[in-house]
Amino acid sequence: MIKKNDAPIGVFDSGLGGLTVMREIIRQIPDERIVYFGDMARVPYGSKTQATIIHYTEQILNFLKTKEVKAIVVACNTASAYALEAVKDQVDVPIIGVVKPGARVAAATTKNNRIGVIGTEGTVDSGLYDEFIRKLNPKAEVFSKACPLFCPLVEEGLWHDEITTLVTERYMTELKEAGVDTLIMGCTHYPLLRSTLREVMGENVNLVNPAYETAVELRRTLEWKDILHEEGGSDDADRYRFYVSDASERFGRFAQAVLGFDIPAAEKINIEEF
Ligand code: DGL
Repeated sequence: MIKKNDAPIGVFDSGLGGLTVMREIIRQIPDERIVYFGDMARVPYGSKTQATIIHYTEQILNFLKTKEVKAIVVACNTASAYALEAVKDQVDVPIIGVVKPGARVAAATTKNNRIGVIGTEGTVDSGLYDEFIRKLNPKAEVFSKACPLFCPLVEEGLWHDEITTLVTERYMTELKEAGVDTLIMGCTHYPLLRSTLREVMGENVNLVNPAYETAVELRRTLEWKDILHEEGGSDDADRYRFYVSDASERFGRFAQAVLGFDIPAAEKINIEEF
């Protein structure tokens, strides 16, 4: 049995994108151990049905339980929107999704009460960002837009490219016309397009990164439960472990680009067994 404070945090996503969430967690609580699972064999989640996403999420939670995690972060916006509510009672550790923290900060910081949400089709169809925002700020109007081309562009490495700018201009037209002053980057990949979104939306639109807000909430939860990692308790070499359901090499290359350091090889597991 690992001592609770030294136990890892489980972070999972449909694939690579959740590494942007892991990056924020590392920035804010660098002493923590993390077990990351990327469902590379079954990505994308964004175009699948809710029943499928719930089933996948249950399997991943079963896998993370075997790693004795002390908290779980659902880094995937689609899984947070479609599955978190359905599965949250299946674990006995704190489980945090990315939708609520992102919605909370957008609802609190908008000045004109016009908020844009961009994400996968699943996240947008779930309406969960809108629901949370309106609950917290009944005056808010939410304008949502699915941006399915963004994930492939990011995974192709076109983070700063004229094709990406053109696609962004097309997707952002309605949101600009709606006059939003706040835009939630409601998909794991989108923070990697921050500078393009900034260019297209202009300086006056506040870009909300749910990954950042989620890491803040995670730190607060660990503090409150008194299970923050104690200094010196874990060995550096083994601080981060990566598991994938396929494509470990592709995962490794992307992870290095997002995290900015060499990671140990991702271990391939058969998620269908869980
Ligand atoms: N990780 C997903 C999300 O944040 C994007 C990729 C996918 O569609 O699986 O919604």
